[in-house]
Amino acid sequence: MSVIRAVAQGCGHHLPSRVVENAEFAETLDTTDEWIRSRTGIERRHFAADGELTSDLAIKAAKAALANAGMDASELDAIVLATSTPDETFPSTATKVQHALGMGGGFAFDIQAVCAGFVFALANANALVLSGQAKCVMVIGAETFSRIMDWTDRGTCVLFGDGAGALILRAEDGTGTAQDRGILSTDLNSDGAHHDILYVDGGVSSTQSTGVLRMEGKEVFRHAVSKLAETGHTALSRAGLTGDDIDWLVPHQANLRIIQSTAKKIDLPMEKVILTVQDHGNTSAASIPLALSSGVASGQIKTGDLLLMEAIGGGLAWGAAALRW
Ligand code: ACO
Repeated sequence: MSVIRAVAQGCGHHLPSRVVENAEFAETLDTTDEWIRSRTGIERRHFAADGELTSDLAIKAAKAALANAGMDASELDAIVLATSTPDETFPSTATKVQHALGMGGGFAFDIQAVCAGFVFALANANALVLSGQAKCVMVIGAETFSRIMDWTDRGTCVLFGDGAGALILRAEDGTGTAQDRGILSTDLNSDGAHHDILYVDGGVSSTQSTGVLRMEGKEVFRHAVSKLAETGHTALSRAGLTGDDIDWLVPHQANLRIIQSTAKKIDLPMEKVILTVQDHGNTSAASIPLALSSGVASGQIKTGDLLLMEAIGGGLAWGAAALRW
């Protein structure tokens, strides 16, 4: 049976030039490189310079993805950009990227599902392609989480970083089997009952200010391990696949221990996991496309490989996608 698939054409990423090592936090906070490294796996992260915006990172990642795909922006019908740290309350950061790329036509919009944002954006881009509303969609995850940190809270400010990654999908004919290239399945979930364990304590309609990130790390950790394994299994089974079929797990890069526990729950050796958490920290919606682009650039991810991407973040919101590269 012939079906339409949203197939990856290329990807790219961009990281701000400033690298902050763990040791830098020890100068102002009661923390150590050893604590951060052993509890999270994070060794360093990138922070945007003053005046460097989420859209600046997104535009550079988008241009890198176009170059990687050998495409021109005029071939794009849509941009779906996941961020929780937009340049402005409105308009969307996606429309700034659209203009900077010189797209001319088509449409662009933002999606907000915090650290799960890229998976939500991917599922929406897939739906646009499958419904015929767009043939070629750029999916971007871009964040400047350094703008919403409480620099006195050692439990959160050491965890996050800034960056952007982009992936281009285009409609192609498939056979309808799990051997097709492209997005094979997605699974999206949220549960607002868990709002208080991970949120930003400000916003347009509540405080008319930006606010800073608040998190009960232990609680988030507990939900993450069980929910990530569950959504991964669901996405795989929707595509008629099992954990044995995975070539690469491309997880949200929040914490090495969460990634290790999730891999164990789906019986996947760590050799099959793309890891960037040590160099990027948690870049929220940007973390999966950053890991994906790093895995492709390093030659680990090859055409035909089956990728499982999964993420959880504030909301709580969580989900997974199975994609054959
Ligand atoms: N340096 C030194 N000590 C610290 C630090 C630090 N940077 N941070 C916390 N501590 C202390 C705490 O104050 C506490 O001290 P106490 O016992 O004297 O009170 C002790 O370390 C233990 O704190 P816990 O929070 O229990 O430490 P835990 O082992 O749970 O690790 C961590 C904390 C790393 C935050 C972990 O819980 C975690 O990674 N949680 C998940 C976070 C996550 O995945 N978020 C993803 C979603 S993010 C999004 O959607 C935006």
